[in-house]
Amino acid sequence: MQVILLGHGRLGSALAEGWRLTGTVADPTILTRAVPPVCPPDAQALVVAVKPAAWREAVAPLLATLPADAVVVSVMAGVRASDLSDALPGRPVVRVMPTTAVAQAQGVAAVWSDDADARALAHALFDPIADTVDLDEEPMLDAATAVAGSAPAFFYALAQSLAAAGVESGLTPDAAERLSRGALRSAGSGAGTDASLEALIARIASPGGTTRAGLDALKAADLDAAGRAAVRAAVTRARELG
Ligand SMILES: NC(=O)c1ccc[n+]([C@@H]2O[C@H](COP(=O)([O-])OP(=O)(O)OC[C@H]3O[C@@H](n4cnc5c(N)ncnc54)[C@H](OP(=O)(O)O)[C@@H]3O)[C@@H](O)[C@H]2O)c1
Repeated sequence: MQVILLGHGRLGSALAEGWRLTGTVADPTILTRAVPPVCPPDAQALVVAVKPAAWREAVAPLLATLPADAVVVSVMAGVRASDLSDALPGRPVVRVMPTTAVAQAQGVAAVWSDDADARALAHALFDPIADTVDLDEEPMLDAATAVAGSAPAFFYALAQSLAAAGVESGLTPDAAERLSRGALRSAGSGAGTDASLEALIARIASPGGTTRAGLDALKAADLDAAGRAAVRAAVTRARELG
């Protein structure tokens, strides 16, 4: 597939790496500030991977050469499809919210478009590098961004607070952080299997054991409320920014 990748930062380079790794897109046209903003005439897709604040300025010079039937694939948080359609009239738009683990072909990506062909093109690009999750409505992308895009930071924050509690229980800060990071890696490898989250928990928490005691304490401290608060705050912020 002939793909133009606009923006080669953290996410753009992760996409290029994942596509190379899986042979999905062997040779994308990568447009950075240093490259003249000219589209190849056979381009089928323009993947917009610049910061939301920079997209209008980045996309404007492409209007003259972007093929009229190219699909616009936006991976930007909070930029509405209708705004992209207004800037690049006539081209179908699909929004995708991936994680940077696409670089290792282990990402997750929420996909939304009201155009079936654009959705199909996004699947062709993202299925090889991510677990793709179709959404029915565009606003759901904000929730998907919170639950997938932002959530690794939420898990790191929980790991930090567990490490801090370990220090209070007598571990050195170095030992506590290493142990907590190791636990996070272990949780991540479980999440990479087909087992449900409930089954993964059950594998570790035997009835009456130490893990079960800790889980009960998390529930009593209202972990669900903390999770809800984090997702709601991220969704609210996305809507303010959009
Ligand atoms: N990082 C993530 O985990 C993640 C996840 C999901 C979605 N996203 C979305 O992906 C987008 C990019 O995020 P990021 O984290 O990759 O940001 P980033 O690392 O800052 O990358 C943005 C890139 O766009 C380039 N750029 C800016 N203006 C340009 C122009 N006119 N022409 C060509 N390139 C231009 C920047 O170049 P300069 O350095 O020269 O400015 C930079 O390399 C954002 O919209 C974000 O919402 C990111």
